[in-house]
Amino acid sequence: MLPEVLNALQPRPGQVFLDGTLGGAGHSCALLERILPDGFLWGCDQDGDALKAAAERLGAVPGSAGRWATKEMNFAGLATWVPAGSCDGVLLDLGVSSHQLDTPERGFSFQHDGPLDMRMSHRTPMTAADVVNGWAAGELARVFWELGDEPEGRRIARAIERERAVRRFETTQQLADAVAKVCPRGGRKSHPATRVFQALRLVVNDEMGVLDQGLLGAFQCLRPGGRLAVLTFHSLEDRKVKAFMRETAREYLLPPGQPDDPLLRIPCTPAATLVTRRSVQPSDAEIAANPRCRSAQLRVLERRPQPLTSPTPHAR
Ligand SMILES: C[S@@+](CC[C@H](N)C(=O)[O-])C[C@H]1O[C@@H](n2cnc3c(N)ncnc32)[C@H](O)[C@@H]1O
Repeated sequence: MLPEVLNALQPRPGQVFLDGTLGGAGHSCALLERILPDGFLWGCDQDGDALKAAAERLGAVPGSAGRWATKEMNFAGLATWVPAGSCDGVLLDLGVSSHQLDTPERGFSFQHDGPLDMRMSHRTPMTAADVVNGWAAGELARVFWELGDEPEGRRIARAIERERAVRRFETTQQLADAVAKVCPRGGRKSHPATRVFQALRLVVNDEMGVLDQGLLGAFQCLRPGGRLAVLTFHSLEDRKVKAFMRETAREYLLPPGQPDDPLLRIPCTPAATLVTRRSVQPSDAEIAANPRCRSAQLRVLERRPQPLTSPTPHAR
């Protein structure tokens, strides 16, 4: 989705950009090249390994010395690092990177055997093995359903409970096999453990929890007229991003705790404008070249040119 992201953010020389999910720095290098010679790029990632690789790539962009800064941190804390109202554009490209997925020792993938880890940051206190071996079957079933949309969540959780009474779950293969035993693949294209792995990854990294803070922090970093672009890869994330953007661009407020009843609406100047009313999706050609991007959705919001002191609907 690089062309779509560049089209949305429209980077120009001298501008300031922030990438809250540096990963392999593919997007960041493209942004940096376009804002040089006198622009500035802030970039963070909670994965220290990703950050090192990203810093090398940014450093290799000609003329980039002194024009970028990186930090190992969760994007939930963006507003404590990047000055409020300073950026022309912010990018959040959510989820795991291909590098993380393809590194067996990180334990994200059922396609490679590795330790059942799934932490994006080594500072995260809990691994997927802690969840699978330690949580009650009812809690596991809830997580598989709520974060994985897995209709067989209860059966899978009960099977995990039976198996861990005999032997602790330590590897991705062990878990993938246990799920496949309960839910054979049948005619499905995807592996039966896809949803369970997604749910565990979301819970281990508290991805839905930090997204709320990340979106708000990212928006606060924008200067008036600046744009926030968010790429999501599953419907739960997309729903949150869509709700945040719609609420920030809404032309009315509601009294606290009240339903959205037209009679209760209090008109206000919205803090932002929706650049994309519907999400932008990858082209067929891009999906053919990179099937992993098939579920990607891009949404873009523009901060309205108004004084920074005026409150946003979220701050009220
Ligand atoms: C999809 S990849 C980004 C790829 C990147 N746009 C590129 O061009 O290479 C997502 C990255 O975001 C990082 N990440 C995910 N959630 C994060 C969070 N809450 N805070 C900081 N980094 C996060 C992951 O560690 C991963 O490296």
